[in-house]
Amino acid sequence: MSNTQVSRRAKELRAILNHHNYRYYVLDDPEISDAKYDRLLRELQDIEAAHPELQTLDSPTQRVGAAPLSSFRQVTHIVPMLSLANAFSDKEISAFDKRLRERLKTDTELDYFAEPKLDGLAVSLLYKGGLLVQASTRGDGTTGEDITENIRTIGAIPLTLQGQGWPAMLEVRGEVYMPKKGFQALNEHLLKAGKKPFINPRNAAAGSLRQLDSRITAQRPLAMYCYAVGHIEGGTLPDTQAKTLARLADWGLRVCPDARIVRGVEGCHQYYQEMVKKRPQLPYEIDGVVFKVNNFALQDVLGFVSRAPRWAIARKFPAEEETTRLKAVEFQVGRTGAITPVARLEPVFVGGATVSNASLHNMDEIRRIDVHIGDTVIIKRAGDVIPKIVGVAKKGQQRIRIELPSHCPVCGSLVRTEEGEVIARCSGGLYCPAQLKERIKHFASRKAMDIDGLGDKLVDQLFDRKLIEHIDDLYHLECDAVAALERMGKKSAENLINAIEASKNTTLPRFIYALGIREVGEATAKNLAEHFLSLEAIQHATKEDLEAVDDVGPVVAAHIVAFFREPHNQEILGRLLAAGIHWDKVKKQTDERALLKGNIYVLTGVLHTMTRHEAKEKLQALGAKVSGSVSKKTTAVIAGEKAGSKRIKAEKLGIDILSEEQLQQLLAPLTTR
Ligand code: IVH
Repeated sequence: MSNTQVSRRAKELRAILNHHNYRYYVLDDPEISDAKYDRLLRELQDIEAAHPELQTLDSPTQRVGAAPLSSFRQVTHIVPMLSLANAFSDKEISAFDKRLRERLKTDTELDYFAEPKLDGLAVSLLYKGGLLVQASTRGDGTTGEDITENIRTIGAIPLTLQGQGWPAMLEVRGEVYMPKKGFQALNEHLLKAGKKPFINPRNAAAGSLRQLDSRITAQRPLAMYCYAVGHIEGGTLPDTQAKTLARLADWGLRVCPDARIVRGVEGCHQYYQEMVKKRPQLPYEIDGVVFKVNNFALQDVLGFVSRAPRWAIARKFPAEEETTRLKAVEFQVGRTGAITPVARLEPVFVGGATVSNASLHNMDEIRRIDVHIGDTVIIKRAGDVIPKIVGVAKKGQQRIRIELPSHCPVCGSLVRTEEGEVIARCSGGLYCPAQLKERIKHFASRKAMDIDGLGDKLVDQLFDRKLIEHIDDLYHLECDAVAALERMGKKSAENLINAIEASKNTTLPRFIYALGIREVGEATAKNLAEHFLSLEAIQHATKEDLEAVDDVGPVVAAHIVAFFREPHNQEILGRLLAAGIHWDKVKKQTDERALLKGNIYVLTGVLHTMTRHEAKEKLQALGAKVSGSVSKKTTAVIAGEKAGSKRIKAEKLGIDILSEEQLQQLLAPLTTR
């Protein structure tokens, strides 16, 4: 290619790439695949590398970021970047509208342009001759920082304006933000890399724009919506906000699709309610809505007060995030003994309510956000969601490290955190009052002690009136006290006492299940009872002993050992037995399936009274395993006629060899049913 051809191709590629960039980021409607885009971009990159003189400011290759800066240059805004007055109620909006109409001396309703109040960072873009030449932050409103390199990396911002009719100099303003989805993905990525995630999309957007290394900004999913024009030279604009934004869109700038004209104060109220509802589904974060007098001529009449326009107001949502001081952390004990840290806060108004407690989840979370008592923390409360601490805004001067208590704050039993778990639990089981109500309900339930008439509501009452403090108190209830409870009479009280009395006569599996040991369900309780035959044996079993039981793995075994080791549980157990709970001796299993359980047989040679297949099925019916090869684990080899190598191997290993007759004896339980 000749130099002119190369130059022409570079220009063409820039135009093609800018077009597809616009389709993708601004219209959200791409015409080509990412791979195709990348191929075109690479072609342009190669040309520019070979001919650096062909590089231009608006080249899409400039979006990947440039060499890091040592600091940001200061930029003085041509027109100051103002802020907005805030309103928090319909009443304040009505007052705003009334004020304006009085000033304008009009009775007719005003047209407002209603826009979402985007939760990001205000940015000013300067286009000269249609080319993006400078971008800056709002700063203090008068001077901001030059973030041109960073802004160039944002695909949603055109490096050159499209179409025609734009002023020779155009300063556009808007909000750079991070879409919710991009924010989530970024945080997941940061967490995976062992880095600290961002607290909210706004912080993430700010952090990304404040990078001195624009190559980092280029990796961040930023976007922008334009909502105002700051300054123009060499051109004109339409006479309303609505038409101006439409014009900006024509020039390839992104404007928010959820903005529209509303009529009068009623229109404002309606729009606000609409956005409250829409907010959770919006792909971007907003913290309110903005109402602007649509007509620029009226805006000019209204003018400004101090640093805000008189013609606009922000109707803010009740803040979902606030900062306050963490005064203390208490630990609560849940139904399953889970110990959860609860933050005690300096009361703060957030998300429409005053909050003085917030969840801290667990110790891992506390360490992750590195929160200490005395810190100023960020509270988040969205709708009815339980408020939670999402981060530290400012470290306290005297910060106290938060420690997990070694003993349950309610009952004093040891607090344990199982390996591989984040949740710490009170090991107090039966003894811990915090867990007790739920445990009593479980204890009384049909598959456990089966106490007829002792439903959830009654348990609540018994507990709240302090008629029972521990499970065994059930067995010492007085009829009169029960009769005095709500919706109880003498008769139903008597019935209850009788049912409780009757429950004393139970079975060992039911009793074990009733104890509510973690992960010991009905089936495991039955297996334990049948394996150990007595409560004492289970109580004294080691982890290894327990793991020999069907369905009991290392985790369940550890729960069982921990339960019986806890002195408080031992105490309650003793008292339950003393109250008279008893069961019939557990009989050794007579279940056929268990007769040959654990035995492994090998069948070899020819049998005469049955086929080998039949023999196999019968052995299996008695719980035995039948294997094809002899090993040290083999219980016995059943050798029929002409048995060969398997018999020899068994002899070598000293394994029993059974005849067909002995096999028949083994299978006898099946025939003598
Ligand atoms: S107009 C002269 N429109 O809110 C009025 N601002 O509190 C200038 N903001 O710094 C702002 N969405 O960062 C306007 N649709 C919107 C907005 C918006 C968010 C932010 C902007 C500004 C702040 C003012």
